[in-house]
Amino acid sequence: MAQDSNNSEPKQIGLLVQFDDPDSLLVACDKVRKAGYTKTDAYTPFPLHGIDEALGIKPTKLPWIVLTLGIIGGTVGLLLQYTTNAEFYPFIISAKPRFSLPANIPVIFELTILHSAFAVFFGMLLLNKLPMFSNPLFRVPEFARATDDKFFLAIDVTDDKYKPNKTKEMFEGFVGQTGVIDVFEDPSPNELPVVIKYIGICLAVAAIIPPLILWSALNSTSGAPRINPIRDMDIQLRADTQTQSTEFQGRPSVFPDGRAMRPRIPGTVARGEWTDPVLLTGIVPETAEKNVIFLQDEEPAKENAEKPAEEPKAEDKPAADKPAEEKPADAKPMDEKPADAKPEEAKPEEGAAPTPPAEPEPNWVKFVPIEVTSETIKRGQNRFNIYCSVCHGYAGEGDGLVSRRAFELIDQATPGMAWLPPTNLHTDAVIQQPDGKIFHTITHGIRKMKGYGDQIPPEDRWAIVTYVRALQKTRTGTPDEIPAIKMKELELKGQ
Ligand code: HEC
Repeated sequence: MAQDSNNSEPKQIGLLVQFDDPDSLLVACDKVRKAGYTKTDAYTPFPLHGIDEALGIKPTKLPWIVLTLGIIGGTVGLLLQYTTNAEFYPFIISAKPRFSLPANIPVIFELTILHSAFAVFFGMLLLNKLPMFSNPLFRVPEFARATDDKFFLAIDVTDDKYKPNKTKEMFEGFVGQTGVIDVFEDPSPNELPVVIKYIGICLAVAAIIPPLILWSALNSTSGAPRINPIRDMDIQLRADTQTQSTEFQGRPSVFPDGRAMRPRIPGTVARGEWTDPVLLTGIVPETAEKNVIFLQDEEPAKENAEKPAEEPKAEDKPAADKPAEEKPADAKPMDEKPADAKPEEAKPEEGAAPTPPAEPEPNWVKFVPIEVTSETIKRGQNRFNIYCSVCHGYAGEGDGLVSRRAFELIDQATPGMAWLPPTNLHTDAVIQQPDGKIFHTITHGIRKMKGYGDQIPPEDRWAIVTYVRALQKTRTGTPDEIPAIKMKELELKGQ
């Protein structure tokens, strides 16, 4: 091998000088630098202030590498999101802009940090020429004390200024030096041990296998299930919800009608889900049987507005909490409309006849069926101001911002356009309505007004009703309705 020729005398690759104290080392470093040597290095048990300057070591370039990669990372993050979200797959979601910087900061931030961290880690290794499996200095026995109590200065023989004898003389002349040592090349062979080589080859071959499996799976057109080593419960005799229950692996379908799900048995209520139907509908059910119907979800009933008071149907959606006040019970056959049709779609026919309906009114509950405290009314005020005031105004006079703006627009832009202002809640028509009816209006809307049942939970709807009543009382109340004690207070205030 290469070393065999000069095995007897290994090549010298450096010179090492040892000191007992840091100050002598610093002085020596200074001299070496002034003498023009550049391929030098110092080894000390602890960081030494001033050693970099003494040796002429320049500050590390690492921060610049990190900065550059950080900027690249941030830009990649920004472009990645911009191109995917705004260029290649531009989806408008909830009318939001396709690209907005604040929403995309987290990924940009993460990628900046990721790139910087990699730059620090790999940049450090690279600049230090790591990993290095052996360093010739480690073969000098004295050098072990570089981590303990000795200070070393090393110079590479490849340095331009290096002259074998002159440099050694200079080193020996340093004040405080305690030994000048020649450093020789590591004579051990440069190759990896055979075992490691073979293990490496085996691993490299094994690493090809997963991509090959992936590749074949991607390109196979076989109908057989994919390779699924951890099956959990992926393949089993069961039918998923909303699917057909068909023959499965030779077994017959679970149900003869082919449906995987059983229709809900009319009147079933999930455990703990029971709510007083009056609370949900504002209507007093007349018989126990009616209760069962009211118990179904509120929503599906909208389009199937059968008259709950008359003919409960034991079919898919017998739920009919919406009384057929505005349209004849048979105006729409039950299944003609999709169940998810929006109430607005049903409006035109309802709105077509704004005159009071000829249908008998359902049995509205007269008074709010929840406990009314000042808390309730406050809650109602809060909800009313959020949901209703935009149209009906804070005082319920039907002069909310939406309406005012509409009139403004009509005046300016489209004179003569029709605008139906929100109802003034202080009119007799509303005052005389039973609480249940107002509740129903909030839930399902009425004519031009949309329903808020899907946004406001029932208790809050009732709370709003109490607040509407309170608003009305501000106009209809009489002095003798004020509790005596409050009256006193008012008199004291001189009102
Ligand atoms: C987007 C505007 C708007 C909002 C919000 C709104 N309403 Fe209305 N409301 C109307 C309009 C318009 C009418 C008149 C409907 C018609 O006669 O066609 C109306 C009518 C009413 C009526 C009279 C019903 C009847 O029997 O004549 C009541 C009561 C009522 N709203 C209560 C409320 C309550 C309570 C809220 C808050 C949960 C609310 N509204 C939210 C627009 C609105």
